[in-house]
Amino acid sequence: MSQFEQLYRQVALGVAGNPVVEKIVSKQGWTLAQRFVAGETAEDAIRTIKQLQAEGIRDNLDVLGEFVSTPEPANANTEMVLATIDQVHAAGLVPYQSIKLSALGQGQLVTGPDGREQDLGDINARRVVARAKQYGGFLNLDMEDHTRVDETLRLFRELVQEFGNQHVGTVLQAYLHRTEADRRSLDDLQPNIRIVKGAYLEPEAAAMQSKGEIDAAYRRLVYKHLKAGNYCNVATHDHQIIYDVMHFALAHGIPKDQFEFQLLYGIREDLQRELAEAGYTVRSYIPFGKDWYGYYSRRIAERPKNALFVLRGLI
Ligand code: FDA
Repeated sequence: MSQFEQLYRQVALGVAGNPVVEKIVSKQGWTLAQRFVAGETAEDAIRTIKQLQAEGIRDNLDVLGEFVSTPEPANANTEMVLATIDQVHAAGLVPYQSIKLSALGQGQLVTGPDGREQDLGDINARRVVARAKQYGGFLNLDMEDHTRVDETLRLFRELVQEFGNQHVGTVLQAYLHRTEADRRSLDDLQPNIRIVKGAYLEPEAAAMQSKGEIDAAYRRLVYKHLKAGNYCNVATHDHQIIYDVMHFALAHGIPKDQFEFQLLYGIREDLQRELAEAGYTVRSYIPFGKDWYGYYSRRIAERPKNALFVLRGLI
């Protein structure tokens, strides 16, 4: 990241956190957000899945929603995820979904069915992974800010042991200093991991700040994960990295069915189609729902051009 890009990202994420800005954009921004969000309902999302499938692109649904601090919305979010898994199955599709643990109650202690105190995020994540597995599907634990990594990886290990690595995956963020060690520590699970650069505003003590360093860390992680024989979701729009991963796989005899490319809905659609046509597995991350503001702000913070697009739209 250049100094300008770094500053832009800090300002954009900071401005997005301002309640007044949130109010204005939430009220007027839906038309603009639809570039990155597939609609408000599961029916909208299922229609999008079918359109993408016709182009040879797979799906990864995300019911939008972020941090909640009390059990009621956490349980309501969980019910939404469960209902979506059911609806996708009923539409004749295999559910593949992502969740944010903070939206399902991670960090909230409640009394579990056995009378012991338990993390509500754990209880709800088990419910959704069990439901996805019931239909032969897959559930991915997205990664949020660095304060949640320990808990997310602890739960991921437990879920893989209970449900199997073909039904649950998680994410590692290249920008965190700790990630190389985290990746190594998961090898015994032969885990299905999505590798991303990282989307949150993190302090220098936790994360690399320069684009060059992050890109180098990204390539190292993907190459090590593949060489260890694990399944890798290469989640980036960075075409240089994508082409480098293709060459690495060819040079090291890594088969095409050991990795896939994942991109966000609405971003680099040309590249998504090009990769699918070349015989690679491509999966589009498709968010839908009413709670789109947090997701949308991170997409804007990634690219100055996107902010101009928002400003023009609002004005
Ligand atoms: P980079 O930001 O360097 O961009 C490379 C090129 O891609 C740009 O030059 C531009 O052409 C294009 N591009 C990138 N962002 C764009 C945008 N918003 N609009 C238009 N063009 C854009 N993060 C996280 O912390 N936890 C998570 O769980 C996930 N999950 C996740 C799933 C999937 C499928 C993807 C693709 C990404 C995530 N991320 C994520 C987000 C990730 O951390 C990162 O912020 C974005 O992918 C942007 O980084 P790139 O790798 O695309 O590279």
